[in-house]
Formats: sequence, C-alpha cells, structure tokens
Amino acid sequence: MSIEPPQLLLSIQAQALIKSLSELQSEKFSGSVAEKKTQIFGKKGLFTQVSQLISEVNPTEKRLFGQWLNQIKTALELKLVTLSRQSTTQTSQDEEWIDWTMPGILPKTGHLHPVTHAIESITRIFEKIGFTRSRYPEVDWDWYAFEGLNMPANHPARDEWETFFVQTPPSSTKGKVVLTPHTSNGQVREMERLKSQPPIRMINIARCYRRQQDATHTQMFHQFEGLVVDKGINIQHLKGTLDYFAENFYGPGTKSRIRPFHFQFTEPSFEVDFSCHVCGGTGLIKDLEDPTGKRKCRFCKSGWHEVGGAGMVHPNVLKAGGIDPEKYTGFAFGWGVERTYTLKPGLQIDDIRLFYSGESSFLTQF
Ligand code: DAH
Repeated sequence: MSIEPPQLLLSIQAQALIKSLSELQSEKFSGSVAEKKTQIFGKKGLFTQVSQLISEVNPTEKRLFGQWLNQIKTALELKLVTLSRQSTTQTSQDEEWIDWTMPGILPKTGHLHPVTHAIESITRIFEKIGFTRSRYPEVDWDWYAFEGLNMPANHPARDEWETFFVQTPPSSTKGKVVLTPHTSNGQVREMERLKSQPPIRMINIARCYRRQQDATHTQMFHQFEGLVVDKGINIQHLKGTLDYFAENFYGPGTKSRIRPFHFQFTEPSFEVDFSCHVCGGTGLIKDLEDPTGKRKCRFCKSGWHEVGGAGMVHPNVLKAGGIDPEKYTGFAFGWGVERTYTLKPGLQIDDIRLFYSGESSFLTQF
C-alpha cells in the first residue's frame, strides 16, 4: 500500500483486512476462495465493516482513507479473481466468482446478408435514373419464362436454362409451371402490368433456379433484369446505362463492353463485360520480377469480366406484351447478382456457394 494509513487503520478490523490481503497474496489461507470472498466482501464481511468506519474518520483524513479503501478493494478483488480462475475444483454455484469490474461480453449482432446488401445497392443505382423495381412470381408459367420471350416449346435454346418444372397441371394458354430460371420472365409481365403502355423502365431483381451447382453456380441464385421500352430507344441508351451502372457499382473509371451474341429475346444481342479493377482493363499488371516488367492479370486474364447478356428487345417479345414494335423499341439486360457482387474491388470470393453455406465465419466478414 503506497498510502500512509490514517490512525483509524490501526483498528482491529482494518488490521484484519490488511492481513487477509497478505494471506491471499501469499496464498496461505484456510478455506476456499469463495469462503474468503464472503469473509471479505459479504454483507458482514471485513471490507464492509471497514468501509463503514469512514463515518468515524476525522475529516482531514477522510480522503486518504477513501483512497486507501479503493486501493485495498482493487487489490483484494484482483487476487480473488485470479485465485478463483486458478482453482479448477470449484463447481458449486456458490463458489462462482463474478468480477463486476470486467468489461462485458458484447452480444453478437447480425447484419444484412451480402446478397441482400448487393440487391439494395443495385436497386438504388437504377432508381436514380428512373427505373422502378418490380417483383414477379418465382414460380411462373412457361409462357413468361420462355414462350413469350420468343422461345417456342421444344426450341433448343431452352436447354441453356437448366429448368426445374413443377409437377402440376399445365395451363391451357400459359403452359407448364416452372421455377423461374431467369428474371426475364418479368419482361412480358411488366408490359402487361403497364397495360402495354410505354414508357417502361423496370428493374426486376429476384431469385432464380437452375439445375446446376459448382463453384460459380448455385441452384438458387439471384438475377437482375433491366427493361426499357419507349419511342426511339436504341443501343446507345443501353450502352450508356451499362456504363453508368459500372461506374456506380464498381467505382469511377470502370467501363462496360458489349460483344455480339445470341439470345432469342433480343435482336441484336450482346454479352456484357465490365473492365477489371485489378489491372484497370489492360489485362496486365506491373511485376518487377518479370523480365518484361509486367505479367498477366490473374483476376481477369484479359482485362474484362463477363457478367451477363443484353440486347434490343425482340419485336416478338414486344408483341407478346401487346406493344407495337413499329412504334416502340426497347433494350433489356440481365445477369446474376452473386457474380456481379463477387467482382467488386476488395472481394476475393472464388466460390459463390459460400454465400448460402450459412458459415458465420464467412458472413461476418461483410
Ligand atoms: N436471361 C438471360 C440469362 O439468364 C440473360 C439476359 C440476356 C437477359 C439478354 C436479358 C437480355 O434481358 O436482353 O442468361
């Protein structure tokens, strides 16, 4: 004790308290740690008795006495905690020692799933330029998933959408029931919702299902689908929208690229790529150990990441939604939320199945 004890400390109780501390410190005492604790801090314990003496302390020594009390209390508590942690034989409730001065254990708090988070930020980005988020059934008629999208029954293009069929009687007009293999089912539905009256600016984000499962596919996943129909819509509007999304989702400087492709529901059709943020779209990375000073970017290998499809809405699709393709044109695009998200700077997720693994060690990183 560094504080000079006032006269009162010569009292029997105070002396006994000081003795208890030295017994604890030398670990030479009779009885259990819990008993010792009650002897000292119990209702009639030594410490309690001594602290009540404060009323008798002469005013000039009160502060000093108070400081001494605090010091001895901390020292006693610390020692008791250490001793009770050391003792492994203590089992009874009585002997459990609670150190009220220890910082508490923070309760675990949850947060949004990364995919939900991605969906929200995608929605915000498109809402800013006038798109409205829509929602359509995940279990839908063949007509909306395929036929209305210019893919008649038995068309070979359907094979790409490894579809789950629901065993239920088909509709005489809309065919079988499927788990939506893509969000494109929202296209004709949105045209119907707006009574075939453009302008249409839809963003449809929903769960999709396909019979495939590997590091880049899960049987349930999410897609987002954009659809714009109005007078005079052309490819430049599509390209501008893709560039806008790239900059806003991945960060300034990210570019989009479209390459000719084939989809039944668009004409012309494209595959959509975004420039790689690791190599800045060059496909090469500075590497002083390489004789050329550069090496191939391992993240993208070519400067670009393929994300999905897009195109100008096929006249047959507009017709399926009751819109006159002579008056109106439109563009559409669609791709996977999980894939789009894993390409974000700073994330290195090479297996999208992790999103749905329920692994909290994975999820708590976000
Ligand atoms: N639905 C397509 C798929 O799942 C993606 C797609 C391609 C959507 C072209 C579109 C589009 O809207 O125009 O692979």
